[in-house]
Amino acid sequence: MPELEIRDLHVQADDKQILKGVDLSVRSGEIHALMGPNGSGKSTLANAIMGHPSLEVTQGQILFNGQDVTEADTDERSRMGLFMAFQYPVAIPGVTITKYLRMVMNAHRSARGEDEISLKEFRRTVEAAMELTDVPRAFVSRYLNDGFSGGEKKRLEILQLALQKPSMAILDETDSGLDIDALNVVAHGVNTVAKGSDTGVLIITHYQRILHLVQPERVSILFEGRIVKEGGPELVTQLESEGYGWIRDEVAAGSAA
Ligand SMILES: Nc1ncnc2c1ncn2[C@@H]1O[C@H](COP(=O)(O)OP(=O)(O)O)[C@@H](O)[C@H]1O
Ligand SMILES: [Mg+2]
Repeated sequence: MPELEIRDLHVQADDKQILKGVDLSVRSGEIHALMGPNGSGKSTLANAIMGHPSLEVTQGQILFNGQDVTEADTDERSRMGLFMAFQYPVAIPGVTITKYLRMVMNAHRSARGEDEISLKEFRRTVEAAMELTDVPRAFVSRYLNDGFSGGEKKRLEILQLALQKPSMAILDETDSGLDIDALNVVAHGVNTVAKGSDTGVLIITHYQRILHLVQPERVSILFEGRIVKEGGPELVTQLESEGYGWIRDEVAAGSAA
C-alpha cells in the first residue's frame, strides 16, 4: 500500500479553484518527482499535503499510512512522519540553528512519548547529519532570523531531513536560483536519506537539473491542477528536450492520461 495517497483532491484558495482532482501516490522508499509548468499548482499541492490553513479542501482525500489526514492539522501530520521544510516558523529571534534543531527533535520525541535527547546524543546526531549534508560548523551557530541565502536555506532543509528521518518528505524546490553546490547538497542529502531507508520523497520541481542528480523512480506531471501524465525517468528526458508544450497539446486534444 502506498504511504501517501491523494485521491481526487480539489483545493481552493481565496475562492479560486487551484487543484481540480489530483490523484497521486508516493510509496515508502521511493523518490517520486512532481513536475509541471509554473502556476500548475505544485506548491499548492505541497501545502495542501501539509495542511496549510489558508487552503480549503473542497473534495477528495489525503491518506497517510492508510489514515485519512485530510482534516488533520499540520503539527499532527508532522508528528505522524510527514516532513516539509520550514513547516515551523523560521524567524524566532535569539534562537540559533542548533537550538532550533534540538527543539524540533524534542518536539518529535515528546510526541512519540520519548524523553528529551541528551546533549551528548544530540551533538553526535547533529555532527553525523552535518557531515552528510556538508554543512560547515559555523553555520549551525547562526541565528534563525539572520537571513539566509537560497543555498543556506537548502542546507538547513536537508540538515533537518537528515536529522528527522521522516517516513515521507515533501521537498518543494521553488528556488531556481540555486548554484550547483546547493543542488549537490540537496541531491546528496535526498539520495542518502531515501536510499538507506524507507523514507519516501516527493520532490517537486519545474526544472530538470536536480532530477539528474537524484534520479526519481517515478515522475508525475501536474498541469492546470490535475495530474495529466505518469511515468518513469524517461519523462524527465522528454521534458528536457521538448519542454511542456506537448503536454499542453495532449491535454487540449484530450489524450493525456
Ligand atoms: N493563496 C492563493 N490565492 C489565490 N491564488 C493562489 C494562491 N496561491 C496560489 N494561487 C494561484 O494558484 C496557481 C498555482 O500556484 P502554485 O501552486 O504556486 O503553482 P506552482 O508551484 O506550480 O508554480 C497560480 O495561478 C497562483 O497564482
Ligand atoms: Mg511552486
